[in-house]
Amino acid sequence: MSENNQPITLIIFGASGDLTQRKLIPSLFSLYRRQHLPPNTRIVGYARRPYDDDSFRQLLREGVAEYAGKHFDPAAWETFAQSIYYSRGNLNEDEGYDALQTRLADLENGPAHRIYYLATAPEFFPVVVTFLGERSMGDESDGWRRLIVEKPFGVNLASAHELNHVLQDVFAERQIYRIDHYLGKETVQNILTFRFANAIFEPLWNRTYVDNVQITASETVGVERRAGYYDQAGVVRDMFQNHLLQLVTLTAMEPPAIFNAKSLRDEKVKVLQSVSPIRVSDTLLGQYRRYRDEPGVKERSRTPTYLAIKLFVDNWRWQGVPFYVRSGKGLAAKTTEITLSFKKVPHLMFPGNDGLVSNRLSLCIQPDEGIHLRFASKIPGGGMASEPVDMAFHFSDRYGDLGIPDAYERLLLDAIQGDASLFARGDEIERAWELVDPVLRTWENADGPALVFYEEDTWGPVEADDFLARDSRVWQLGCGPH
Ligand code: BG6
Repeated sequence: MSENNQPITLIIFGASGDLTQRKLIPSLFSLYRRQHLPPNTRIVGYARRPYDDDSFRQLLREGVAEYAGKHFDPAAWETFAQSIYYSRGNLNEDEGYDALQTRLADLENGPAHRIYYLATAPEFFPVVVTFLGERSMGDESDGWRRLIVEKPFGVNLASAHELNHVLQDVFAERQIYRIDHYLGKETVQNILTFRFANAIFEPLWNRTYVDNVQITASETVGVERRAGYYDQAGVVRDMFQNHLLQLVTLTAMEPPAIFNAKSLRDEKVKVLQSVSPIRVSDTLLGQYRRYRDEPGVKERSRTPTYLAIKLFVDNWRWQGVPFYVRSGKGLAAKTTEITLSFKKVPHLMFPGNDGLVSNRLSLCIQPDEGIHLRFASKIPGGGMASEPVDMAFHFSDRYGDLGIPDAYERLLLDAIQGDASLFARGDEIERAWELVDPVLRTWENADGPALVFYEEDTWGPVEADDFLARDSRVWQLGCGPH
């Protein structure tokens, strides 16, 4: 068989967990149904629990049926499920890996490409990779080998650096795909199309016209059943170091010379290199009041569930333009959006319009994906009074409700096709941690600033409003009625 139609085996470590059932298999099944999954793709789940192929398939069926809802197609599932297998083993014992190797040799029965997917708890990432390395399972003489690594990628710069080191000992950087599911979101990729495939916005996308940039990622849910992880991590590690900084880079970056993984990621790294050290006075961390009563949360936990951070991208394009980033759990609405507020007109000749608001462009990442543009319009009738109006584009109007595939579909397909553009590179992650580490050190120090508390179902701590009021600004939400 040629290199290109050689079979592909996707091996999922930690396969009995939530991610496999809720995201990976539903996404793979959807790719299969849309005929995007290469034929001859097989999936092998590896975990400790005592499943066999049949009971594992049954477990996964439940997740897929729930995800697909009324669109679930049992007949298609039965066919697809035939390509799913289970190999039982511990993550830290030779026997399991020996059995896995035997099973793979048996199933593949010849050369095959492989993707190893680390969907385990993060402390096992280096463990699994070390076992793979000892068995030369990164060796590409029988087909390509790729490694997908879930988040969180480290808990600080030192641990991320160390993890990079372990991975790069076994796999070359080009074989490593570090997931940030925000990059798989259609609307996040659309930031690039919007900016670089339209002539009219990019000329305004700079310090001459933009007054400030705001990024909001708010969630209504609390910590749910994830306290074990979240109480260690907190919002800075959980959202800011990865998803939010990714949004900053895509919003702020220069156009890459060509659209490939290297150029794109080079430009993103340049943005991170340009971000000046974040000052303590430009950070605010909070916690929703009920958080300490959540099951699994430490009684006196100081873990933040809300952040507001001001940062500057110190380069020619963005000099002096603040980027305000906020994110939190237990807030009034679920929304992720990027809003650019433009400078006011230099002179307004119409009397009676002193309070005129400035133009605002919002990239609505979710849940109502689209673009909104606010501009002033004359109120019909006598005089020249005006008011802000909204021009809106919604993906759902154009592509229907099913038009936007899950982020994991896109990312899995890209990894299968060998396109790493939408995955974070080692140096990118380390630079992000370099920015975040001092913030964490300050706030995690017992003598550091005190967390502020907020009520659920609000827009966060009142102090967050003061945070912007200091700069004579207010938080903007441009993507819908809030
Ligand atoms: C995950 C975080 O990476 O992103 C979660 O661990 C968070 O805490 C989630 O809820 C948000 O993702 P999305 O796609 O719902 O915005």
